[in-house]
Amino acid sequence: MTEPSIYDPDFVRNVFDRCSGKYIAFSTWMSFGFTERWRRQCVEALALPAGPATGYDLMAGTGEVWPHLLAAHPDIERIVAVDISRGMHERAMQRLHVMRADYIEFIEDDVLASDLGDESADFIVSTFGLKTFNENQHRRLAALTSRVLKPGGRFAYIEASDPKGWTLRLPYLFHLKVVLPMIERLFLRGAQDFAMIGTYSTNFGDASEFAAMLREQGLQTEFRRYFFGCATGVRGFKPVRRDAATTPE
Ligand SMILES: C[S@@+](CC[C@H](N)C(=O)[O-])C[C@H]1O[C@@H](n2cnc3c(N)ncnc32)[C@H](O)[C@@H]1O
Repeated sequence: MTEPSIYDPDFVRNVFDRCSGKYIAFSTWMSFGFTERWRRQCVEALALPAGPATGYDLMAGTGEVWPHLLAAHPDIERIVAVDISRGMHERAMQRLHVMRADYIEFIEDDVLASDLGDESADFIVSTFGLKTFNENQHRRLAALTSRVLKPGGRFAYIEASDPKGWTLRLPYLFHLKVVLPMIERLFLRGAQDFAMIGTYSTNFGDASEFAAMLREQGLQTEFRRYFFGCATGVRGFKPVRRDAATTPE
């Protein structure tokens, strides 16, 4: 029997189902608080104009980006969060009770198999959800981004990335390959799921190829580095007319 690919949606779902209980604490603590800062910067990069808006939080996890999104844009009317993992979904729902549940809907599904409507979103935001996709899946995600955004709609993605240059790369790899697995062995009863997330991160590289795929889909894109490339992202918008890459009002 062949091993399932680590990019198989069922495999990814299982990894996050097992991680979900400790995800928030582990990701904040093990990134020295950088993940929170990067979520806020991703929302800033979205540069959503003031006014009512509806959009998607893709690979939403337990809804870590919602406080940033709602603080920056209190007039958002609706966030539709999509995540494949039941464990992450359940924790997100617990969170919904203390947040503005009436603004947020959660869809438990593989985003690439979901039927999000054409031109249904003013924005798409996604924090740390790129690494568990391979090249082909990134291409499909770029096509989905273009399809579901309204003309003028905005997007911002961010992902932890492999920094270029040895001064940062050595501690980065040491952290992912040695520290994370050791902490899991010692404190999480030998689980290797967060170490698996480390493997996805090193395989991912950075968001530049995904940025090129979004550009091929006719989207205006800007690739961005955060903290010397330890995270990278891509932001932009869907031009109002395909033949003229006009900035939305
Ligand atoms: C590293 S977590 C990021 C969660 C959250 N956005 C954050 O800021 O921390 C990646 C999430 O992507 C979800 N995911 C992975 N593949 C997916 C897919 N094909 N469709 C929907 N969600 C997916 C996982 O279940 C997981 O919750």
